[in-house]
Amino acid sequence: MSLENPFITTFYPQSDLFCGREEEIIRLVTIVRDNVNSILLGPQRMGKTALIQKAFEKLRQKNEFKCFYIDIHATENLKEFTRCFYDEISDSYPEKNVGNIDLDLPKQNEQLLLSLFDFLDKQNIKMLIAIDEFQQLVKYPEKNTITILRQATQKLKNISFIFSCSNEHLLNDFFSDGKQLFFTNFDLLQLGGIKESVYSEFIIEKFEKNKRTITEEAVNFILEWTRRHTYYTQSLCKRMFETEIKEIDIEHVHEECGRILLENESNYFIYRNLLSPVQWLLLKAVAKEEKVYHPTAKQFLMQHKIGTPANVQRALDALLSKEMVFAAHDDNKRYYQVYDCFLSRWLENLD
Ligand SMILES: Nc1ncnc2c1ncn2[C@@H]1O[C@H](COP(=O)(O)OP(=O)(O)OP(=O)(O)O)[C@@H](O)[C@H]1O
Ligand SMILES: [Mg+2]
Repeated sequence: MSLENPFITTFYPQSDLFCGREEEIIRLVTIVRDNVNSILLGPQRMGKTALIQKAFEKLRQKNEFKCFYIDIHATENLKEFTRCFYDEISDSYPEKNVGNIDLDLPKQNEQLLLSLFDFLDKQNIKMLIAIDEFQQLVKYPEKNTITILRQATQKLKNISFIFSCSNEHLLNDFFSDGKQLFFTNFDLLQLGGIKESVYSEFIIEKFEKNKRTITEEAVNFILEWTRRHTYYTQSLCKRMFETEIKEIDIEHVHEECGRILLENESNYFIYRNLLSPVQWLLLKAVAKEEKVYHPTAKQFLMQHKIGTPANVQRALDALLSKEMVFAAHDDNKRYYQVYDCFLSRWLENLD
């Protein structure tokens, strides 16, 4: 009978199942204590939400802050945003009237937001509000949402914000038309992978705790193959744990990786049917290169026979919007990578 799997992929990992991120937690907590707002930017499934929850845990332990978490992924307009916000706040203050305004009147959404912020600020306790999936705001029909938020938040004395965002491409929209004013004095925290040595130690320790072993070579391969993209690393480790093999070596990991790709293959073929030929070619090329710094460079286009720079730019924009590819930075140099690490590994094996 196997013990509970220590590699979590579906929810916030509690205490000893949470790996690393010490520097990031200290940085977030410091930012909040200094009353500065922050943007937490990182690809999907890298661990932004888990990091926010961990920072909340730290801040709550010392009773320093009242923390609110709002996930706006499912919201489509300002009304739903306001409703989401209202529900979270009123849950915390069931005995108080937080501002009973009819949400069906568009103008009153703004008023309600203003009164909610005003209400919170007057509680005279430091607060942290994390708004997760912040890029969703770009998709609202109300194009002035950022301006409304700016008006609602600029006079606050006791409230700090974390805006968490997974789509840098969409975030760029916020930096046009003077909207960037909103982000003046924001601290930007770009979330990458968990440190290699820390993750490696974590994985080995979890197997040893269950009286099993995994070789260093196998762990290094897991971290490299999954690019330390947290969800994918966790998934592969979870699968290795499920095999119940007592002494895991690199061959066992190779076999499991092969099984993952085979299981997903039918979905990958569906993606091919949904993309245009140029988009598919570009996706494959990005996978083969692993990281692409100059997608319209002559050498890249020739090597992968993709087409003209203009075609590629269009295809790249489409892949970014469809979240098949993401943009990130290495030492301030922007690069592109296939989002789904397993899909990327499958693509790189194609002709
Ligand atoms: N530090 C960590 N230690 C262990 N597991 C983690 C850690 N961070 C994240 N995870 C796991 O990885 C998965 C992805 O993390 P999370 O949901 O926080 O990513 P995200 O960046 O918020 O993604 P999305 O943009 O899709 O919401 C989670 O299900 C969680 O179980
Ligand atoms: Mg998240």
